[in-house]
Amino acid sequence: MIRHAERMDLVHSDIRGPLYQEALRMISSGIPVLKLNTGNPAAFGFTLPESVRGALLEGLDRAVAYSDSRGMPDVRGAILEYHRGKGLSHSTAEDIFIGNGVSEMAEMSVLAVMDPGDEMLVPCPNYSLWSNSLHLAGAVPVYYRCDEENRWMPDPEDIQAKITKRTKAILIINPNNPTGVLYDDETMKTILQIARENHLLVFADEIYDRLVMDGKVHHSAAYLAPDLPVITFNGLSKSHIICGFRCGWMILSDPNNELGEVRDALERLSSMRLCGNTLSQLVIPAALHDPESTQAMLVPGGRLYEQRKAVVEVIQKTPGMSVVPNDAAFYVFPKYDAERFHITSDKEFGMGVLKNKHVLIVPGSGFGYPTPDHFRIVMLPEAEELAKATQDIADYLLSLQ
Ligand SMILES: Cc1ncc(COP(=O)(O)O)c(C=O)c1O
Repeated sequence: MIRHAERMDLVHSDIRGPLYQEALRMISSGIPVLKLNTGNPAAFGFTLPESVRGALLEGLDRAVAYSDSRGMPDVRGAILEYHRGKGLSHSTAEDIFIGNGVSEMAEMSVLAVMDPGDEMLVPCPNYSLWSNSLHLAGAVPVYYRCDEENRWMPDPEDIQAKITKRTKAILIINPNNPTGVLYDDETMKTILQIARENHLLVFADEIYDRLVMDGKVHHSAAYLAPDLPVITFNGLSKSHIICGFRCGWMILSDPNNELGEVRDALERLSSMRLCGNTLSQLVIPAALHDPESTQAMLVPGGRLYEQRKAVVEVIQKTPGMSVVPNDAAFYVFPKYDAERFHITSDKEFGMGVLKNKHVLIVPGSGFGYPTPDHFRIVMLPEAEELAKATQDIADYLLSLQ
């Protein structure tokens, strides 16, 4: 047997893990399964925005060649304009790197910044991309608590307590996956003050910033703390329903000229893979100039708004279940009373839901959550189908008491 590299020991993906494999097996043997495991809107009938289709067709010939390894200059210009509009005043087009989704940018930035043994503060629960990227670099994710009793806001005391001599950076995912909440400015400023006092580089994953509901407004970390070094991550997978295009970017904010070496490392890493997908770069300016197609989903009568209502209503009327309604993104992260339902393993619970109700969920442990009493579902199917699936999960839960 050829053993895989040791660095792979800690890398995991429960979103596409054993439960997912079982779901695929069921589907191939003719059993329909509703897959609520990935935030992949196109799989639920969300269609390509016309602005994106037009830009793609019009620009096709430009996509044939490799581009600059950081990305096409005019496209970086459009990204800069977007982030300037959000108050990132210190960045230039030279600070922008476009790649194959935020996923590639996360891995690249972690490799560029983190030495083996360096620590990054990472939210718990968390989206596993970031902990996996840290493991690949030999660096260490140190998890800080997000407090369900306080609408899943990060707990500043816990963050402070986890800082060591090796802490080099802090990751803020806002709006968050898996909780779907938007952090309030006060909490953000408190966390950023901790970063300031401890000279931490801020990694701000803001891929859901255009998917905020209820009239709330997202403020970028780099806007709230213009004096700090920040790497902001964003992309079109979610807001423009084009996950498969693999279209994401990062933008450095470097008000004190501290990121010269990091920028140089990122340039070398970007050159290694020559460039990001040029087809997907082409659509960025059109997409960023077309906020309407996203906005329409988020207001009363819009799909995401109504679907959230459907799922939250079922959970709130089920005894033994609760949820902090999400402000943004596609996710809800409900809680159940594990003792009451005799659940000691959330993975077993997930398997039970899959086998009995043919619905695929992701157990909370897939996001590093320490107790077996949470799961995540994506609120992407039409409201009626989603309400039924949520009711099926609730019925299975109730059958266990
Ligand atoms: C918080 C967060 N960051 C990054 C990503 C990856 O996005 P991309 O499709 O741009 O690689 C996701 C995908 O679900 C996510 O939830």
